[in-house]
Amino acid sequence: MTPNVVTRSAELRDWVRVARTHDRTIGLVPTMGALHAGHLSLVEASLRECGATVVSIFVNPTQFGPSEDFQRYPRDLEGDLAKLAGTGKEGKAVDLVFVPTVEEMYPEGCTTTVDVGAPAEVLEGAFRPGHFRGVATVVLKLFNQVLPDVAYFGHKDYQQTVVVRRMVEDLCVPVEIRVCPTVREPDGLALSSRNKYLSAEERRQALAISRALRAAADVAAGGERRAEKVLSAMRGVLEAEPGVRVQYAVLVDPLTLRDMTEIRGRALAAIATYVGKTRLIDNIMLPRSSS
Ligand code: PAJ
Repeated sequence: MTPNVVTRSAELRDWVRVARTHDRTIGLVPTMGALHAGHLSLVEASLRECGATVVSIFVNPTQFGPSEDFQRYPRDLEGDLAKLAGTGKEGKAVDLVFVPTVEEMYPEGCTTTVDVGAPAEVLEGAFRPGHFRGVATVVLKLFNQVLPDVAYFGHKDYQQTVVVRRMVEDLCVPVEIRVCPTVREPDGLALSSRNKYLSAEERRQALAISRALRAAADVAAGGERRAEKVLSAMRGVLEAEPGVRVQYAVLVDPLTLRDMTEIRGRALAAIATYVGKTRLIDNIMLPRSSS
């Protein structure tokens, strides 16, 4: 069954008021649409864990830089609704899809933004200035509109989960953040709405990203603790693929996102690249060594 769609914040609030009187826990899955199995895994998690599930679809202009792909970002509301209609089992289905317009989310005169500080300034933040201000602002607006008990995010955008958690803690937002594993194609490529931009040749080249992350994981699993050794395995794979232009390939502390020189405890390997004109990111939590 096609889920209910609302475009106005006021309609959403009416629905939320009723859902809360029925004592249902509300799960929110924020997305920018062009849904794929990665998004749908978040929806399925919410359907499993919550009494009601709201999915938002909004290509948020404030998180795109002036030279980025806001205009050409893939949009396919009909396709998205069909995919959402296929989720859930045992009578559970997405309860509401919130598809606001830009004017609805950013009415004239609105000037408040959310700046999360340090975790938003490194990695993606360094290459996409203002990106996380846009993300944090829209996510807080969605939280305030939907009043979810739980909100679902993907590990694929790991830094986004750190930024959102920081915001939630610092601003005392009463929502639990769940992070779901990255969904990949069978050959390793992390699903992304931007994969649609890739030519067949670029798609093949893009496989170097997940290969590089796996190489890092293998070296770490073998007991190597020196970050430089793990990094050189990762960068070696990327450099061997001339179609891939690296912006960063790093090993960071998953809590602070600061570079590590020695692996102690958990470590995150993260990569950002251009493949042709398409910017792709991916990451992996390194396994703790068995030695
Ligand atoms: P979008 O890129 O549409 O992603 C929506 C959610 O799906 C994010 O939490 C993202 O991490 C998750 N996701 C994307 N690809 C995934 C994959 N392969 N496996 C698992 N999860 C995946 O991220 C955004 O939108 C926006 O920044 C948003 C949070 C909606 C704010 O505008």
